[in-house]
Amino acid sequence: MFPERGADEEDVLEELRKKTSEDLTFDSGRILGSMCTYPHPFAVKVVTEFIDRNLGDPGLHVGSRKVEEEAIEMLSNLLGLEKGYGHIVSGGTEANILAVRAFRNLADVEKPELILPKSAHFSFIKAGEMLGVKLVWAELNNDYTVNVRDIEEKITENTVGIVGIAGTTGLGVVDDIPALSDLALDYGLPLHVDAAFGGFVIPFAKELGYEVPDFDFRLKGVKSVTIDPHKMGMVPIPAGGIIFREKRFLEAISVPAPYLAGGKVWQATITGTRPGANALAVWAMIKHLGFEGYKGVVKKAMELSRWFARELKKIPGVYLIREPVLNIVSFGTPNLEEVEEELKRRGWGISAHRGYIRIVMMPHVKREHLEAFLGDLREAVRNV
Ligand SMILES: Cc1ncc(COP(=O)(O)O)c(C=O)c1O
Repeated sequence: MFPERGADEEDVLEELRKKTSEDLTFDSGRILGSMCTYPHPFAVKVVTEFIDRNLGDPGLHVGSRKVEEEAIEMLSNLLGLEKGYGHIVSGGTEANILAVRAFRNLADVEKPELILPKSAHFSFIKAGEMLGVKLVWAELNNDYTVNVRDIEEKITENTVGIVGIAGTTGLGVVDDIPALSDLALDYGLPLHVDAAFGGFVIPFAKELGYEVPDFDFRLKGVKSVTIDPHKMGMVPIPAGGIIFREKRFLEAISVPAPYLAGGKVWQATITGTRPGANALAVWAMIKHLGFEGYKGVVKKAMELSRWFARELKKIPGVYLIREPVLNIVSFGTPNLEEVEEELKRRGWGISAHRGYIRIVMMPHVKREHLEAFLGDLREAVRNV
């Protein structure tokens, strides 16, 4: 019920704390199956200080708009491009929708089709539905990367673009993006790379010596990339990223926004009013951590994943779905659903999906949390 009179801040806060006390929190170390994390304290500070900025009305917040452009430029640089065009958006979902929208708008095809791996994130289902684009799903190989030959066989005159994934949601697998890029160039089609998760991992993992395929704008067929700062970038939610190689993609999805207080602009994002503070936090975190700082975060996460994968293999009945590529480890167990139930009952934030449990080594996940988890897993597998 909408209250007649207001209450003291402290009382309201107390009630909120009580109501949310059953939430799992990232800093508890119990959330093991999420791509989100506890944001970096510096990013929280930035968001708090600039909380009123609205990038939906950039004429008012001219400085913030410039900072967003610089953030996009730095992200483009990380992805091998001197200057890219894009926005900090609400997340990977919006970023993927914008890429599909740009491909569709530029294609001028009556019955547009998009070819994408069966491992693609469900955001593409939303995109297809909203934009009237038929999704054509390509088969996976035994190693869970997309079958490039199957993609080629599915190309028709209605195809408006191809999607490759650099860090799949379930397994953290990176598709053969170099082959997809060649294919896209051969057929004159744009390739979108969904690196929502992998974007803030792969550049650093490669530098650390991990073998991961090239996945970014260094490959000429790649026309757009999703890269999410609110995942491994440690920026508070919402902060996704979409970057296009050329301005024409952004122009193809821009509509006039005439009535804004700061004057008319062209808007490409799905959201109108949108948080400038989070875009500033992306800029600030990149400046604060730099390449070396993020490399350190990724180093820990990758080492933890390899250790965790080795430990899992020691538990009778437990098996890896595949050796980890990034900082995601997915495994199966006998009686998977019962094991999942038991682990949830013991307070772990995990879920079983497509026949496996997925653990994401986000920055809040520490070895001691995983040791406790392994103990519970061992018991759960033995007892159910
Ligand atoms: C590969 C991939 N793409 C896109 C998304 C969607 O991101 P968001 O939840 O930020 O919209 C996710 C989320 O897990 C993802 O794993």
